[in-house]
Amino acid sequence: MKKILITGGAGFIGCHVVRLFVNKYPAYQIYNLDALTYAGNLENLKEVEQSANYHFIKGDITDEPFINGLFTEHGFDAVIHLAAESHVDRSILDPLSFVNTNVMGTAVLLNAAKRSWGNAEGKLFYHVSTDEVYGSLGETGFFTEETPYDPRSPYSASKASSDHLVSAYHHTYQLPVVVSNCSNNYGSFQFPEKLLPLMINNIIHSKPLPVYGKGDNVRDWLWVDDHARAIDVIFHQGKLGETYNIGGFNEWKNLDIVHLLCEIMDDKLGREKGESAKLITFVKDRAGHDKRYAIDATKLNKELGWEPSLQFKEGMEKTIDWYLSNSEWIANVTSGSYKQYYNQQYVNR
Ligand code: NAD
Ligand code: DAU
Repeated sequence: MKKILITGGAGFIGCHVVRLFVNKYPAYQIYNLDALTYAGNLENLKEVEQSANYHFIKGDITDEPFINGLFTEHGFDAVIHLAAESHVDRSILDPLSFVNTNVMGTAVLLNAAKRSWGNAEGKLFYHVSTDEVYGSLGETGFFTEETPYDPRSPYSASKASSDHLVSAYHHTYQLPVVVSNCSNNYGSFQFPEKLLPLMINNIIHSKPLPVYGKGDNVRDWLWVDDHARAIDVIFHQGKLGETYNIGGFNEWKNLDIVHLLCEIMDDKLGREKGESAKLITFVKDRAGHDKRYAIDATKLNKELGWEPSLQFKEGMEKTIDWYLSNSEWIANVTSGSYKQYYNQQYVNR
């Protein structure tokens, strides 16, 4: 039996990872630690909340006495660390909260694991990170595990710092760690501040679709369940001290992806062809907007046999269908401070 602490399990990717581990590994005890910020929502975990091997703990990863106490109380065998401030635009508005959660929070968890585990065998600290630590690409090329770090937003700089701390704990204290750096995820339960759910929600309500700059920035999209599957594979088979890039070789310009969404949704909403695309509005660009991300996931494929399971258009259809049948979820998660953020970000831009 393994006791696994998953941080940030009430967020977008975390809820998919928690569901996968709770359902696939009944012999594991899964402890989901989440502060339930604006981005964390227990509704995301309804499917597993009654499961005997699932436990929820509300708490903040930056609270050192509390985190040390949790390790003492539960004696975790492994940590899968996803809790973070994750939205680039918010990091431009409020960088210090990103430094606090992403850097300090990761350091507190690493230190608690080091104190609790000593030299014990069979432990693992798995840090879930992002491809944004590698910076921005030109027209060609891919990020590999050897690409030098060059973070450019407060968000990516805070994630890069946390990656470096994980590596430092491995080299200095031999803490058993593994890191993965993934490209843009899409799918169900993503908070509607990120590109795809924001656009889907605005199309539903016939609101303007705010495309930053010319819409020619490129992102590499991966189905969130394929990310969760990759985390499962790396957790069980990854080599200690290694980094694995995760991505689906699926690059799209922002404007093209918004047009694709509009086309599919015109059809699903019974609108005339081209009607939703009329909502596209070019707005002021994001400060320091990274041009292109593209992940080379060859190492993960060759060494651990992982590959994406879903074609992008099929994933988009599923995602759109999920948002269309979960309007109550959208209404609930956007009922708090979201309106204020939205107005600051788009209406008063
Ligand atoms: P998210 O914003 O949807 O969820 C983050 C979760 O962390 C929320 O449930 C929130 O309540 C929790 N949290 C925030 N601060 C906390 C704190 N101080 N203590 C405890 N819990 C706290 O994020 P996401 O998109 O699911 O991303 C999860 C992780 O994956 C992050 O580390 C992110 O950097 C990384 N990542 C995300 C993507 C992506 O496309 N979304 C891609 C690659 C990597
Ligand atoms: O690459 C992985 C990263 O992907 C993760 O580490 C981050 O947590 C995640 O938020 C995501 O970062 P991005 O900045 O790429 O995602 P976002 O959805 O915010 O934006 C995607 C692209 O769309 C980006 O080029 C900016 C653009 N955009 C975004 C929004 C919200 C718009 O044009 N309009 C918008 O309203």
